[in-house]
Amino acid sequence: MSIYIKDGIIATENIVLGKRVYGEQLFEKESIEYRQWNPNRSKLAAAYLNGLKELKIQENSKILYLGASTGTTVSHISDIAKKGSIYALEFSPVSMRKLVRLCEKRPNIGPILGDATKPKIYFNLVSKVDLVYCDVAQPNQTDAFIKNMNLFLKEDGFGIIMIKSRSIDVNQKPQKIFKQEEKKLKEKGFKIVEKVKLEPYEKDHICFVVEKIF
Ligand SMILES: C[S@@+](CC[C@H](N)C(=O)[O-])C[C@H]1O[C@@H](n2cnc3c(N)ncnc32)[C@H](O)[C@@H]1O
Repeated sequence: MSIYIKDGIIATENIVLGKRVYGEQLFEKESIEYRQWNPNRSKLAAAYLNGLKELKIQENSKILYLGASTGTTVSHISDIAKKGSIYALEFSPVSMRKLVRLCEKRPNIGPILGDATKPKIYFNLVSKVDLVYCDVAQPNQTDAFIKNMNLFLKEDGFGIIMIKSRSIDVNQKPQKIFKQEEKKLKEKGFKIVEKVKLEPYEKDHICFVVEKIF
């Protein structure tokens, strides 16, 4: 089992023994080394602890990750999809430098310096994926997510998008923003299969798990 969850602690089986990525705790259970997955640093861990039923990530999954930053969440996905591959897209060259160092230790992550709103530019670098994960925290992120889902998702794949209401409009109530983004997804032919709020780990955030209706 690549995910450990007990007493409010979540961790992933470390595929790079003895190595931490962002100062997280390492611990051993039944001869398996785990890395603690910090829900205050990773929205996916927060969503899982808040009741997300499935991560939609298998051992051999292919994932397109938009907004990889320095690789905190990507590293845990790389533990889970240990025989799969992750295209980790990030547009900040500063974050990318650190991400590249992470990729040198974790061969299932491929870094791409690029802009999630312009997927045609990296179209030839990415093949069809089982999961598109989006956490770019930008006002236009639902549109970027939709473009990437339409180009790269396999027919039986899923999408996960983390929505931070304040990145979209600081003056609107989060609930209104969440409804507006949900409507946008539905109008573009997507079905919301799960919704999970991220409090107390992240204020005014929601996680949508999405399926494309082909
Ligand atoms: C909230 S942080 C991501 C944190 C990361 N997902 C994690 O959990 O470890 C958002 C990241 O998206 C990146 N970003 C913002 N707009 C982007 C775009 N259009 N294309 C690619 N990356 C983008 C930012 O540079 C930043 O690193």
